[in-house]
Formats: sequence, structure tokens, C-alpha cells
Amino acid sequence: MEDKKKAAAIVNDPRKVFGRSPDQHILNVVRESCQEAFNLPSFNTTLQTIKSHFFDRNYDAVFQNPEHLPVYSARYAPSRALCYYHLFMEHPVLMKTLEGPSTILCIGSGAGSELVGISAAMVHANPVIKAKKVKKASTKAGKGEAEEMTKDDTKDTKDTNGAEENTTATLGMENLAVSTEPNQDSASPTAVSETTQAPTTKTKVKKSKVNKHQVTIVMQDYVDWSPILEPMEAVVRSRMLLGPERLQCETEIGNVLDLSEGLLERVAKADLITFMFVLNELFQDKKRTMLLVAKIVAAMPSGAHMLVADSAGSFSNLKVGERTYMVYMLLDHLKSLEIVYQDDATWYRCPPSLTYPLKLENMRHFVRIYKKL
Ligand SMILES: C[S@@+](CC[C@H](N)C(=O)[O-])C[C@H]1O[C@@H](n2cnc3c(N)ncnc32)[C@H](O)[C@@H]1O
Repeated sequence: MEDKKKAAAIVNDPRKVFGRSPDQHILNVVRESCQEAFNLPSFNTTLQTIKSHFFDRNYDAVFQNPEHLPVYSARYAPSRALCYYHLFMEHPVLMKTLEGPSTILCIGSGAGSELVGISAAMVHANPVIKAKKVKKASTKAGKGEAEEMTKDDTKDTKDTNGAEENTTATLGMENLAVSTEPNQDSASPTAVSETTQAPTTKTKVKKSKVNKHQVTIVMQDYVDWSPILEPMEAVVRSRMLLGPERLQCETEIGNVLDLSEGLLERVAKADLITFMFVLNELFQDKKRTMLLVAKIVAAMPSGAHMLVADSAGSFSNLKVGERTYMVYMLLDHLKSLEIVYQDDATWYRCPPSLTYPLKLENMRHFVRIYKKL
């Protein structure tokens, strides 16, 4: 009983979970989870092999070899986890999903960056703290926070309509939609028709009353990352003090492009769907990815959000006929998605004071947060 009280008190205070530096704490979690990878004598040669496959855009060669996975996580998860942590912290609409109960479906998330980054943000989204603040609504700090949330929400929605109109005209994507007929040629954006989508699912997810602050993170991937994710989950739980009543982790293995019934059922129950540094890989197969996007958007419950982040460079180019677009343009023009936040190019720069066994990568990326209407 005494232990329980102590744990609750600690969880209420992110400073006590993270110490002085949340960023360094997050890196320590990744380092501890990936310790076995760092001990591999072949670490550097494997990393070089992974990099050369990336250079050739041969993603299957990167991920379909189980020996690459621990090395990939150790190298790429730390800066991504930090980036996703800050991304969530910056956007109240994302933080709201972390109060629970909620389900976050993370497509292509086997490497663990989402698990670590989102879990770290969860520490700040402590619902117990919020409940206390509501009681003290008249205090200066509480009021300031409420104002800040409103200000940020307004900022999130500005500038979306004008931009949308212009690009729509340029791309001729007014009727942008993805045919749900697998045999139809949907490789061109103009063939994509929202009007032909399956009826929009307006599922209301029934929340469990027992675990009302529980957040379920579903890590979807076409590779079995369990040798990496299982130890990582254990470290996350112990270093971020997230028990099963607060954090539930599930994995879903399968090629997302196969559009299984199971996947669409997951989508229909999700409050947030993430595509973090995976969409441009998927667009190697344009036709199937356009179909995937249409099916996912159609299956999303009304009010659910979608978060997409990926390279802001040419890796995210989508060639359609003679023209080249950025992959987010496809999503921007779907009529059933409202753009809640957009940034075409932003940097996440790792503070130089942080320590990690490898050089940390700064990330230039685009961000989109959409809401299903
Ligand atoms: C570039 S990594 C990004 C990993 C992670 N989202 C992150 O931000 O660190 C792409 C991930 O997507 C997965 N992936 C690639 N193609 C996929 C597909 N067709 N279906 C499901 N997962 C896929 C890979 O196994 C890998 O984990």
C-alpha cells in the first residue's frame, strides 16, 4: 500500500521520473534497451550494410534480415524517439490522446522509436495531475496553462484552408480519392476518388471503465521486432514508471499493404494513427499505398487523428506522370481529413550536451496532423 502511494507520487511528477534532463533519460532508455546490439562485434559492418541498402532504397533488404534489426534500432531509434517525444509535447491534440483511455496505432513502428517517444510524453500527460489542476482552476499556474492550450489549438488550425485551395488547383486533385477496387488502376492521384471509398465508419469506440487512463500502443510492422520490442518495453516500464494500468503494448505483424481485416478493425478502434518515417517507403508501391490510404481514412472513426512525419527531402517525393509531389499532398486533399497542423519542413536537432554511444542525427522532416471529419 505504502509502495503504491510512493509510485503514484513519483508518477505525478515528471521531474522525478526523468531527473534533470528528459532527453538524456530517453536516450538512456534506448541505450539500455539496445545494449546487446552495441556488444555485437559486427555492429559497424552491419550498420554500413544497412546504410548502403537505404542508399539504394532497398528497404526490404534493410528490414527483412533479422540481424539488421537490433543495429537499426540502436542507430535510428534514439533521435527519432526524442523527436517524437517533443512532437507530442508541442501539440495539445496529441497530448490529449495520452490521457487515456485511448488506442494509438503506429504503422511501421517495430524499431521502437514510437514506443519510447510516446511513452516519455505520457509521463507528462498524467491524468491525475490534470484532475488536481481542475480543482485549483483559479490558481495562476492553472489558468496560464489553460490559456496556453487554447492559444496552441488556434495556432494548429490556422492557414490550412488557403493553402489547400491553391494546391488543389495546381494538382487537379479536386476529386482526389483512392479507388477501393483492388483491380482498378489507382496509380495516378486523379484516379483516387474519395467518393468511391467504402462507407465511412463512424465507429464510437467504447472505453473501458476499469482502466480509464490506459493508453494502448499498437506497434504494427511487417517484421517481427519482438526481440527488440520486448526488452525495450520492460525498460520503458521500469524507467518511466508506466504500469499496465497506464500503458498497454500490443504488436501486430503483417504487411500493411495487404490491408487485412484485422488491420482495418484496429484502425476503426484507434484514436490516433501514426505513420512515422514509413509513408515514403510504402509509396515505393504507389498503387497499393493509395489504396491503403483510402481504406484507412475510410475506416478511421470520426474525430480520430492521424499523425504523419517523414523526410522533408526528396525521399518523400511522389512521382505522378511527369510531375513530382510530396507524399503529404495526397493526404492534404482528402476531403474527409481536416488538416489540424502542417509543417512542410522542420528540424529536430539533438542538443549537443546529450550523450549516446553513437553520433545522434538531426532530422529534417515534414509533419501533418489530420482529423477525420
Ligand atoms: C524507416 S523505418 C521507421 C521505423 C519507425 N517508424 C521509426 O520512426 O523509427 C520503417 C519501418 O516500417 C516497417 N515497414 C516497411 N514496410 C512495411 C509494410 N509494408 N508494412 C508494415 N511495416 C512496414 C519496417 O519494418 C520498419 O520498421
